[in-house]
Amino acid sequence: MKTRVSAVAFVVLMVASSSVAQTRVAATPPMGWNSWNHFFSKVSDADVRSAADALVATGMRDAGYTYVNIDDAWQGKRDANGVLHPNEKFPDMKALADYVHSKGLKFGIYSSPGPQTCAHYEGSYGHEQQDAELYASWGVDYLKYDLCSFGDLMKQSAKDHPEDKDTANRMMREAYSKMADALRATGRPILFSLCQYGLDEVWKWAPSIGGNTWRTTYDIHDTYGSMSEIGFGQSSLAPYAGPGHWNDPDMLEVGNGGMTEDEYKTHFSLWSILAAPLLAGNDLAKMTASDRSILMNREVIRIDQDALGSQGKRLSVDGTTEIWVRTLSGGDVAVALFNRGQSAQTISFESSATGLTSRVSVRDLWAHRDLGTESGRISATVVPHGVVMFRLHRA
Ligand code: GLA
Repeated sequence: MKTRVSAVAFVVLMVASSSVAQTRVAATPPMGWNSWNHFFSKVSDADVRSAADALVATGMRDAGYTYVNIDDAWQGKRDANGVLHPNEKFPDMKALADYVHSKGLKFGIYSSPGPQTCAHYEGSYGHEQQDAELYASWGVDYLKYDLCSFGDLMKQSAKDHPEDKDTANRMMREAYSKMADALRATGRPILFSLCQYGLDEVWKWAPSIGGNTWRTTYDIHDTYGSMSEIGFGQSSLAPYAGPGHWNDPDMLEVGNGGMTEDEYKTHFSLWSILAAPLLAGNDLAKMTASDRSILMNREVIRIDQDALGSQGKRLSVDGTTEIWVRTLSGGDVAVALFNRGQSAQTISFESSATGLTSRVSVRDLWAHRDLGTESGRISATVVPHGVVMFRLHRA
């Protein structure tokens, strides 16, 4: 009897401590840099070091961007013992991780549950524990795990078992659980980022297997069309985010050149309302003053990183304009007025519609200005594809 009770207590303790650990690595949405959106498969050791240097030199690290994440295309071949070696672009991964850590930053890497990654490099299929241990030995702090060729295995299984409608999705959930368990077994806290494009309503099961973030969509591109379709499509997922576990509408494109300054401000504001990971995807060594001021708008970052971890959502739509709100810790509210149209629009709302019924003080988070106190209607003119973002505080 005594053994049974203590076995139960042990299991309860394990579950509780794993979720405490899971929350701790991502108490707020992760921030940092990822190589893919700018460097794609060309990324090298030198690019990663340069990103780490730039995070420090620009002040981005001190603004909260701490992860330096290598995406696809770092992998070489496995040796006779199955140990994966980096390719010639990454001569010494441990030394690179040490360099990143020496700058007060964290180090992230990428793999796939399939035999091959999306860019056709070696995946972790059949080598999950071995790879997790390798990452831990290098000092990895973040793993992005991208479905890629595992999708072919899922399709095959669905074909072989037409009677079992859940077979493909079950395989996928098991593959992600397997890596989550493997990471946990290393004893090193490693943020686990699922990337399977939102399949099988991942937001409903990723937190319970130990996922810290999960992509909700297919890939973002550096256009207003792609960014806005993804970003404005996220409202219904708000209930699934919270400290330790976040919806991920994909990495930032700010600074990659395909959008205007106003469009990038919309991108950054929307991602912050969404409590999304803020992973810069540009070449940090070559930023314009505008890129910097967007990525380092600390007032907007503060919205993204709010401790309550309550994801914002759409309050209303009127033609091509949308109002989004996010409740913040301490009772403040972030309000973003978006103009998705081609001509300037005046957008108005009643401050009480945000849940704040008394007088509120209004701070403009892009103009960095206090606009005084209001108790009724608040209006702003918003440029095409642009945003005006306020922080409201009970006066
Ligand atoms: C997929 C992911 C991207 C990126 C590439 C790398 O497309 O969604 O974010 O990781 O693979 O090949």
